[in-house]
Amino acid sequence: MFDFKYYTPTKVVFGKNTESKVADLIKEFGGTKVLIHYGGGSVVRSGLLKRVTDTLDQAGISYVTLGGAVPNPHLGLVYEGIELCKKEKVDFLLGVGGGSAIDSAKAIGYGVANEGDVWDFYDYKRKAEGCLPLGVILTIAATGSEMSDSSVITKEEGLIKRGYSSDYSRPKFAIMNPELTMTLPDYQTACGCTDIMMHTMERYFTNGGNMEITDALAEGLLRTVKKNALILCKDPKNYEARAEVMWAGSLAHNGLTGCGNDGGDWMTHKLEHELGGLYDVAHGAGLAAIWGNWARYVYKDCLPRFKRFALNVMDIEESGSDEEIALKGIEAVEEFYRSIGMPTNLRELGVNPTEEELALMAKKCALGVGGEMGSAKVLNEEAMLSIYRASM
Ligand code: NZQ
Ligand code: ZN
Repeated sequence: MFDFKYYTPTKVVFGKNTESKVADLIKEFGGTKVLIHYGGGSVVRSGLLKRVTDTLDQAGISYVTLGGAVPNPHLGLVYEGIELCKKEKVDFLLGVGGGSAIDSAKAIGYGVANEGDVWDFYDYKRKAEGCLPLGVILTIAATGSEMSDSSVITKEEGLIKRGYSSDYSRPKFAIMNPELTMTLPDYQTACGCTDIMMHTMERYFTNGGNMEITDALAEGLLRTVKKNALILCKDPKNYEARAEVMWAGSLAHNGLTGCGNDGGDWMTHKLEHELGGLYDVAHGAGLAAIWGNWARYVYKDCLPRFKRFALNVMDIEESGSDEEIALKGIEAVEEFYRSIGMPTNLRELGVNPTEEELALMAKKCALGVGGEMGSAKVLNEEAMLSIYRASM
């Protein structure tokens, strides 16, 4: 077991109609002038944005709005948001939507609180020394950005998708009403469930410092999401299932399922980020398309974990060799992904990269991780290319 720090300062307000508490929460955390930042319009269509602005009007909190954060959110809008905040003297950010709107809001927060180009942080050139305080109203259970320290932004020039993590960006509060996720297209619900599972699995498949309590939490979380993802395929308005998945999404990425280990593997995410940057695919679907191919490449180097996962999460019978059990577990995950409408290769994902494009993604990925990375197995550029090729 490794030493660890666990820091989750986000106040979670969970349940039906909790968005009505937004003005009180902004006041509690000192906000007087707010930027409400959202995505492509789902919050306008659902009426959520209107409810939020009405609540702020009634409470006498002034605000400006900025929509347009796209999935795989763009740096250009971040710059626009930074200028707007400075001009309007905004002192609090409210991200309303999914990971994209929240991550874009976090990036705006860095840009306002620090001098210079905000991309420097995502380009690993320097570290942020603060972030404007941020609150969140979540509309899709997926990334865990509502409690995480991460923000992932795509620079349009060169289509470079990079993440930056610091505790400064952890939201002050997260309003989570599972009912708000009921307007999601089924595909986005499934993408979200996949991402939640992947955040747990990235931390689970490691070669360092595993802890019994962390494993038990991770395995319970994975079983819960698997079960409720299947329920939501048939019954998308099931409140209990929406709630289980929503809370799992936060716990999967607030650090809880990584306590005591070496921090996790994260190579499936890194490989997916190149896909998201280049082809603008939905993050969860990109992860599903890569994972099985990553797993078959690395499992022999992390066999006890793959075996344990097969038995405890995927309900594989304990018969045959460890390798056979591990492989059955990998196949069962892919079968599960297909059963919720997720792809298990790039063709099913709808992209068909050329050999040159695969090589470019591997090169950018290796560059992005400083040469090589991974805990289940350390991957270099050549290994990354092999996994991309196997995913075709
Ligand atoms: O943009 P709008 O119109 O709101 O539509 C969105 C978008 O099209 C729609 N949507 C969201 N809530 C809805 C809804 N439609 C109807 N009803 C609702 N209630 O769903 C689509 C996807 O939204 P998005 O915010 O892009 O999804 P997600 O939360 O999966 O975020 C993905 C982004 O987060 C990054 C991903 O790489 C990707 O860029 N990640 C962020 C992380 C973090 N900050 O910790 C970690 C993750 O691993 C991930 O990398
Ligand atoms: Zn993710």
